[in-house]
Parts: sequence; C-alpha cells; structure tokens
Amino acid sequence: MQNKRRIIVTSALPYANGDIHIGHLVEYLQTDFWVRFQKMRGNDCLYVCADDTHGTPIMIRARKEGRPPEALIDEMRERHTRDFSDFQISFDNYYSTNSPENKAFCEDIYAKLEAAGALITERVGQLWCPQCGMFLPDRFVRGTCPHCGKEDQYGDSCESCSATYSPSDLKDAHCATCGCRDLETRETEHLLFDLAKYREYLREWLPKHTQADVANKLSEWFGEDQKLLPWDVSRDAPYFGFEIPGHPGKYFYVWLDAPVGYLASLKNLCSRTGRSFEETWGDPDAERYHFIGKDIVRFHCLFWPAMLHAAGYQGPTRVFVHGFLTVNGEKMSKARGTFLNARTYLDHLDPAALRYYYACKINNSTDDIDLNLDDFAQRVNSDLVGKITNLASRGAQMLGKRLDGRLGSLDDEGRTLLAAARDRADAIAALYEDRKFSQIPVEACRIADAANEYFDRHAPWKSIKTDPEGTRAVLTSVLNLFRVIAIYLAPILPVYARKAAALFGEGDWTWDSLSETVEGREIGPYEYLATRVDPAAVEAMVESAKPKAAPAAAAAPAAPAAAPAAAPKTPAKPQIEFPAFDAIDLRVGLVESCTAVPKSKKLVRFELDCGPLGHRTIFSGIRSAYPDPSVLNGRQVVFVANLAPREMKGVGVSEGMVLTAGEPDTGLAVLTTLAPVNPGDPAC
Ligand code: 2FM
Ligand code: ZN
Repeated sequence: MQNKRRIIVTSALPYANGDIHIGHLVEYLQTDFWVRFQKMRGNDCLYVCADDTHGTPIMIRARKEGRPPEALIDEMRERHTRDFSDFQISFDNYYSTNSPENKAFCEDIYAKLEAAGALITERVGQLWCPQCGMFLPDRFVRGTCPHCGKEDQYGDSCESCSATYSPSDLKDAHCATCGCRDLETRETEHLLFDLAKYREYLREWLPKHTQADVANKLSEWFGEDQKLLPWDVSRDAPYFGFEIPGHPGKYFYVWLDAPVGYLASLKNLCSRTGRSFEETWGDPDAERYHFIGKDIVRFHCLFWPAMLHAAGYQGPTRVFVHGFLTVNGEKMSKARGTFLNARTYLDHLDPAALRYYYACKINNSTDDIDLNLDDFAQRVNSDLVGKITNLASRGAQMLGKRLDGRLGSLDDEGRTLLAAARDRADAIAALYEDRKFSQIPVEACRIADAANEYFDRHAPWKSIKTDPEGTRAVLTSVLNLFRVIAIYLAPILPVYARKAAALFGEGDWTWDSLSETVEGREIGPYEYLATRVDPAAVEAMVESAKPKAAPAAAAAPAAPAAAPAAAPKTPAKPQIEFPAFDAIDLRVGLVESCTAVPKSKKLVRFELDCGPLGHRTIFSGIRSAYPDPSVLNGRQVVFVANLAPREMKGVGVSEGMVLTAGEPDTGLAVLTTLAPVNPGDPAC
C-alpha cells in the first residue's frame, strides 16, 4: 500500500436561507463518493462542511418571521443535516459560519491582509431604504430596466435584456422588501480587497489548480475591461455577520466569511479530535480540495486563493468544478414539479436510487447533467436491481434454501471470471480518483452481465436436483462476483454495501477486501438490498412538488375551510365473495427460464418448475417492464395454477397466469417471494 495521503475535502457551504434540493445534491453526492473512496483506500481524508449563515437575506427573513437570525439558522442547520444524513452523505464535521472559530479566522485573515497592504478604502454611494433603515444590496432593489424598459427587474441586471447596471440607474427603483419608493443615495465608506495586487500570482495559479475551461473562462478577468477590480468586502450595519475590528458598524461581507468557514469547520473538527489545525490545513504535504458549482468559481478561484496567499495561509490544491442539474432536459421548475427538495424526494423514493443514478451521470467536467425521470427509473430498475442485485438475491436465496446457506469453493470458470473482475480494480480506482464516476456503473454492469450469463447457462435451479455440489460451486462463484461489484460500488452505495458485507459476515469493506475470496463459510440471511423505482412513486413525487392551486375563497364563501378528503376510489371490478377468491389456486413457481417471445413486443415466456405440479409454460404480457426477461431466471413467482389453459395464437398454450402488480407497461413488477419456499407450495 502506498503512503497514506492526507486529504481535506469540502463542498460549498449551503446557504441557510433554504432547503437542500436535488440540484445541491449533485455536489454533495459526488463529494461523498470521492471521500468514501479515499477512505476505503486507507487515506486520511477529512470531509468538512457547514451552513453559510450570514448576510442580508437571512437577516430579512428572520425579521419577517419575527425571530432572531440565530433561531432561523439553528433550525435550518438541523433541516440540512437531516437531509444530508438521510441521503447517506457523511461529513467528518458539519459546522456553521456563525461560530467563534470562524470569527477568529476572519479577524486573523483581515489583520494579515491589512498588514500586507491588501486592503483599500473607498467612499461609495449606495441606496438606502428609510423604512427598513438599511443600505440595500443590489438584489434588494427592484425597478424598471433602464435599457429595455422591462418592469420589476433586480438592481444589478435585467432578466429580459441581460443588461447590467447599478441599482440607482433603475427607473422607479424601490425597496424589494417593503416597497418604499423614497430611496436615498447615501455615501458610505467600504473596505475592498485589492485583487489586482495578486494578478501575477493568480495568473500562474489558475491553470494549475482547476479545470482548463474554468481557468480559460476566468482569464477574462485579466483583460482590459475587468482588470481584477477591487472586491468590496464590507457591508454596513444592520447586517447579520461579524463586525470588522476597528470599524464599528461595518461587517465582513458574507462572501468573505463563507469560504473562511471551511477553515473554521476543520478547526472545530481538529479541536474535537485532538489534532493540530496548523499541522492539518498547514501541512505542506496535505491535499486540499474544494468541490463547487460553476456559478461560484470567481469566489473560489480568484478571491479565495488570493486572500489565502496574501494572508500567508496554504491555498487549495485543486478546485473541482461541476455543472448544473436539469430535470427532463429543462431547468428545475416549480410549476412542472421538478424543483424537488431533498425531503420531497425522500418522502417518495429510496436515496440509493438517486445516488446510483447521479453516479451514472456525473464526471469531472463542468457540463450540466440531466436527471431524466423515465431514464432514472429504467436505469435503476434494469441495472442496479435487475442485473446487480439480482445476482445476490437469486444466489443467496437459493443457497440459503437449498444448500444450508453454506458457500463452497469456486469452480474453474468462476475463478476465471472473478480474476477478470478483480483485474478492473486499478482502472476503477482511477475512475474514482479522476471523478469519472459515470464509468463506474458501466464497469459494474459489465461484470454483472458476465455473472448473469454464467448463472443462466449453469441453470442452478435445474442442476440443484442432480448436482448439489456443482450448484454450490456456481452459486459461490456468483456470490463472489456480486461481492466484488458491491465493493466497487461501496462509495456510491454505502448502506447497500454494508448490508451486502453483512451477508458475507463481514464488516465495512476496504479496497483491500477485493483480494479476498469468500469460500466455505455460512452466509447470513438475505436482506433486501435495493428496491425497484416505481414510476407511480416518481409521478406522485412530481405532483406533490407542484404548487397547490390557491383556494377559490371569494367565489365560494360557503365552502368548508379544509377541502374534503378525496373519496377513496372503488376497485375497478365488482366485489366477489370469499368462495370466488378461494376458488383460485395460487402457487409458487421457480422460474427456470424467462425469455422474450420472438416477434412479440409484449410477450415473455416463463418455464416454471412447479414442484409436485410438474412443469408449466406460461406466457405473460410484461415485456416492456422487463426488457431483459432473463433477470427473472431463478426467481420464485406467484401464479394462478387452476386457470384453464389458453391457446396463445401462433405462440403456444399458456398454462396459468403469473401475477404482477403496478401500472400497465413500465410500472409492472412480477410478484416474487421474499423468503424462499418450495416450488408448488400454495400462496395466498
Ligand atoms: O452559493 C452558495 O450557496 C454559497 N452559500 C456557497 C458558499 S461556498 C463557500 F464559500 F462557503
Ligand atoms: Zn425597505
């Protein structure tokens, strides 16, 4: 094993003004994949983050809600940490920028910037709202665009014609908070960071510390028109933040204290765990990485490195920049129900499904990624559930039921397949290291395809009757292949991997666990690892995220205050008495093979081992839900055993009916048994 690397990793600090949404998760999930991978490799990796708590929006919202900003940010921090933890995102420390450590770092950096002559003062005119009693940041002024005349635009730019201007240029300028139109322009003194002083430093720094397209884009700042203008780092009272020492009534701008929050969270972690901060962040051999979105590169790739450099702190080793999220090819939209909060997602779907899907989409570029909701359901169901998890459930259930749950030894072919799967370890490690996550599920599926092919060819559900030990070897091989896949996916699917490891009687896996082969031991009971994404649940989630229509208050004065609960739907078919139900003979059948019927878009053909009832062939119209029907091989399904045989035109006779549930077409799922039972046993 190479030397342990010391790595510090951050994700951008979420603003404490709103909930975490699935756009944010693009960043936190990829950071979590990367950090978990580093930890599995045995590196000393610390992942720190915090809530970004200061600034005008928080102050104004708290005022509106009639509570101190501290109460608001405490509540938001709790909401954020709950969302993160339910998405299996594991920080080593999650802190707050409103902390004593952050105040101390801001003051220290400020003093060092002052000593280095990096600060300048300037008198600036700024709009003042007499009703709110405060200077108005650009975004808190609204009015008519001076260029195109579009009404109700922000104070800094027009959403219609993209012109940029200063708030005092707006026609009809008014306070966005209280609507006051009698705004005054008042002179005030601001402190600015003299960015141009670090021009040469930044020019060298940029190409070595971030992606080429980011560095290129930022090089515009070195041109004639931008010239690395001084950056305004102070704000006047009232402001929720840290007061600047020696400047009563002036506060550090939130964008100054936010990245300093990375240091504060790390320092807090160091204090809790008995480390020295100086020897952690300050260690010249340590690596420091920031994951951020492309909207905040100038803060992280210009201001921040220049500030750290000027104050004599170590700068970031690299800033990893990613793109935005679109949903179904468009910007997230409240009206379309695609502006989805983390909590809304969690109320309807399994977090592992989104972790897997994001891994399929995310790589190391700044391109936007798309969450296509149909593709999401399809990809999770066919690959994670149908290909990968199916190996474990078929293998472990048969081993548990028919072979005392004891692994044997691999057969020769199994050993060859396992060696080939292990041979991908370095390539997959490199994919993680380089943040080319989207290739990792591709690698995993390739191994799963080979394992499924091997399983189906050996048809253990048949061979078990004549060659139990040969079957044990096949199942042992399949389960070892599954185990390697689950180790590869562990940084992406940590809870899944923990359950899979428990199946083999193991604790948390490391990358070295790949070299082990599990043979001759008992496996634990099979626990469900992943569930199919139900398209109906996706639809329900989207519906629940759409704005609710406002009640038609005036039009219907007599209406009750609360809408009556929707009446439960009646079943689609007439009621039957118990004897009619009792007349149906439901049995369990073991799928010996499930194949597509040639030339049919709908039909699949089941060959079922029905125990004492013999062998049955059943046709079923579920092809669209199971594009690869072989994923059902080895499954135990429920079927109607006493349905009169039916001639299916040009195909054959169907000797029963396999039960399914869900929406017609893609939402259908075949009913299977959770615990193994004997083929032919009654079901009810
Ligand atoms: O863009 C944002 O939401 C900011 N709250 C990110 C801050 S990142 C760092 F600088 F703290
Ligand atoms: Zn106002």
